[in-house]
Amino acid sequence: MKKSILTGAGLLLILTGCTNITTEQQSVEQTMESGEMQHEENMDMNHGDMEGMEEHMDHDNIPPLQASKGTQELVIPPLLEKQKESDFDYEVVAQEGTTQFFDGSPTNTYGYNGNLLGPTLQLKEGETVKVKVRNELNEPTTFHWHGLEVPGTEDGGPSDVIQPGESKIVTLKADQPAATLWYHPHPHKSTAEQVFKGLAGMLYVEETDEEAPALPHTYGVDDIPLIFQDRLFDENKQLDYKNLMNSDGTIGDVSLVNGTINPKLTVTKPLMRFRILNGANARNYTFRLSNGATFTQIASDGGLLHEPVEMDEITLSPSERAEILIDFSAMESDEPIAITDEEGNALLPFDLDIDGGTEEMESISWTDDTTFLKEEEKSLPVSKKIELFGMMDKVTINGKKFDPERIDLRQKKGVSEVWEVYNKPDEMGGMIHPFHIHGTQFKIILRDGREPAPNEQGLKDSVLIEPGERVRLLVTFPEEGIYMYHCHILEHEDNGMMGQVEVY
Ligand code: C2O
Ligand code: CU
Ligand code: CU
Repeated sequence: MKKSILTGAGLLLILTGCTNITTEQQSVEQTMESGEMQHEENMDMNHGDMEGMEEHMDHDNIPPLQASKGTQELVIPPLLEKQKESDFDYEVVAQEGTTQFFDGSPTNTYGYNGNLLGPTLQLKEGETVKVKVRNELNEPTTFHWHGLEVPGTEDGGPSDVIQPGESKIVTLKADQPAATLWYHPHPHKSTAEQVFKGLAGMLYVEETDEEAPALPHTYGVDDIPLIFQDRLFDENKQLDYKNLMNSDGTIGDVSLVNGTINPKLTVTKPLMRFRILNGANARNYTFRLSNGATFTQIASDGGLLHEPVEMDEITLSPSERAEILIDFSAMESDEPIAITDEEGNALLPFDLDIDGGTEEMESISWTDDTTFLKEEEKSLPVSKKIELFGMMDKVTINGKKFDPERIDLRQKKGVSEVWEVYNKPDEMGGMIHPFHIHGTQFKIILRDGREPAPNEQGLKDSVLIEPGERVRLLVTFPEEGIYMYHCHILEHEDNGMMGQVEVY
C-alpha cells in the first residue's frame, strides 16, 4: 500500500497547555521562567482580579498521568439496542449512579443508561432514527450529537434544555460519511461539570457501501472504541467538580479509558482498529506505542482520510477523534506493548492472545480519487474571521462572550465559506484552543499558510489551534438552524468562549 511516513514539524504538534511558536513568544516564556516573581507580576498586571483563584493551566503545572497498572480488562461500552414496538428507535437516559474506581469507596458519577459514560449508538449511513432522550438528573441537561450534521432543532445545543424528569424525541438522520462521532451534554455553564462526572458516549455512522475498504469492524473484538479521559478525585475519591475545577480546564492525574481505571486490553486479532476519542475536559494527548512501532491512521473526526497515513504518534485535543489500525502480527507476545502518552506513561497496555485472523494491513489501502480539496475551494476568499483569545474566565471569541440572545454569524445552507480562525497569543504566550463547529464537517485548507498534514486531510469538526496560529477552514452546513461554535476546553466553553451561527 501507499505509505507516507510523517516525521518532523508537520505532524509534531507537541502540546501540553502552552506552546510557544514564535521567537518573540519564546523570549517572553524564558523571562517568565527565569523568576516566579516576574510570573506573579505578569499575572497581576494582566489579570488583576485573578488573586485567590486557581492558577492558569500553563505548561509547568499539567499534572502527569499515572501509568496504568493493567489490572482491569478494558470495559467496552455496550451497543445501544433498538427498541421494539415503540414510537422511537432508541432511548438515551441521563442519570446518576455510582462507580467503583477505587477499593472500598464508590464514586458518585453520571451516565447514560448506566452509571458512567453511555452505550454506543450506531447509525447506518443514510439512516434516520428517532431517539427518545430523557433527563433523570436533578439538574437541566441537553443531548448534543457532536459531529452529526443534523438540523439545528435536533442538535442539542445549550438552548435545547431538557428539565429534570422530562423527555423528548429527536430525529437523527445520518446523512454523511461513516465516522466516529460522540454525544455529550451541552447545558450552558455546566457542560464541563456534567461531562466530568461521566456523561459521554460514542456515536458511530456505519459504512454501508460494499465497495468501501475492508476494515476490521467487529465491535469490541477487532474494532474498539477508546474514550481517553483524565480525572481528578478528591480525598474522598469523589469527582467534586466545584472544588476540583480549574477555570482554564480541569486536568487530572488519573487516566481513564472507557471509564476503566488501570485498564489493559486483551488483543485477539492481528489487525486491530481503534476509534480514539479525546474525551477530556481540557487535556491534550499525544499517543504513541511503547515499542516504537508505527500505526496507521485511517480516519479523522468526520470519516476516512484521503488515504491511510503511517504515523509514529498522534496528537488529539479535546473532542478530536482518530481511527487507527495497529498491526500486531509482527509483535512478540512477551514484549510489553501499550498505548502511551507523550511522557511514555502506559495508558492502555495490551495482552496479546492472538487466535488467528485473516485481515492484513497490506491489503488495506486506498486513495480517494476525489482529491481532498478542489482548486476552486482552495482559492475561495476568507469570509468569516474568528479570533480566539484569553484564558481562564477571560476567554472570548472576537472580543465577546457567549450570549444566547445574540446571533454572531450567518451563513447560507449548502454554501461553502472560508472561516479563518486565529488563536491570538497573550503576554504569557497563550494556549492551545480546540475549535469546534456544530452541524458541519469541515476541511482544513491551510495552517499558517501551509497545507495541513496528511492525517488532517479529511473531514473534521474540531481543530487544534496553537497560540499564534491562523487556520483556514472550508465550512459548509448541509442543514438549517442555529449552531454553536466554540472552544472545546469545556471550561472555556462554559466561560463563554462560544458563538452562534445561524444557517438559513
Ligand atoms: Cu462536543 Cu458544542 O460540542
Ligand atoms: Cu458539537
Ligand atoms: Cu480554549
